[in-house]
Amino acid sequence: MTEAILQIRDLDLFYSKKQALNHITMDFYPNEITALIGPSGCGKSTLLRSINRMNDLIETVTITGSIMYKGENIYSPKVDTVELRKEIGMVFQQPNPFPFSIYENVVYGLRLKGERDKAVLDEAVETSLKAANIWDEVKDKLHSSALGLSGGQQQRVCIARVLAVKPAIILLDEPTSALDPISSGRVEETLLELKKNYTLLIVTHNMQQASRISDRTAFMLNGDLIEYNDTKSIFLTPQKQETEDYVAGKFG
Ligand SMILES: Nc1ncnc2c1ncn2[C@@H]1O[C@H](COP(=O)(O)OP(=O)(O)OP(=O)(O)O)[C@@H](O)[C@H]1O
Ligand SMILES: [Mg+2]
Repeated sequence: MTEAILQIRDLDLFYSKKQALNHITMDFYPNEITALIGPSGCGKSTLLRSINRMNDLIETVTITGSIMYKGENIYSPKVDTVELRKEIGMVFQQPNPFPFSIYENVVYGLRLKGERDKAVLDEAVETSLKAANIWDEVKDKLHSSALGLSGGQQQRVCIARVLAVKPAIILLDEPTSALDPISSGRVEETLLELKKNYTLLIVTHNMQQASRISDRTAFMLNGDLIEYNDTKSIFLTPQKQETEDYVAGKFG
């Protein structure tokens, strides 16, 4: 049995008085892709943002329970959230490159850390863009604006930007929903490559995508974790009626 890399225990989250996550308990496993699925508003993004404490940035949020990572509760006051977000990086629905060159986008986090050695930066750019499956498309225009790339290329540059700070876990919130099918396919291939070296958690509304690329799937409804299992079981032999109805496309 592989050991979990993240353990969520009894996680409750409120936005003011509204409860958005109800007692979530689940483990995530290394070198796997785990998909979070469920209808709009069920709490997928909220759960994902809890994992690198992005919800701390929202004033009305209260959280109880724990998320254990490397033997420590990430909600412990000792935890440095800037460091945490380097280890647990995030990619969003809309590709959000900075209005700089491709090169400067990728080295952004390293520059913030004070890295000045050009050889180190060059190496990080090449390695990260290769890992994000976009090196060949951009290697001759590293100093052009990232905003001049297609949406799918921008999203892979954003993935490279996350990789450059050497995370262990990457959170992706509907990373392909703003992309055309071909660009989405390239991003999916990238994610499958990345799981050799990283742990990936992906929110998706696309059932085909979840079944194509994820190892495990969690189905959420109204802030509850309804069912969590290996992806095949969720799609082929779901144990709960709600899961069956959702994966059959009856609601959501
Ligand atoms: N910043 C916020 N302030 C107040 N309520 C919020 C906030 N963000 C989310 N919510 C509420 O929490 C619940 C869960 O929202 P969340 O965005 O996590 O859902 P989701 O499953 O990601 O939905 P979608 O598929 O539409 O992205 C919803 O009822 C939503 O209205
Ligand atoms: Mg969402």
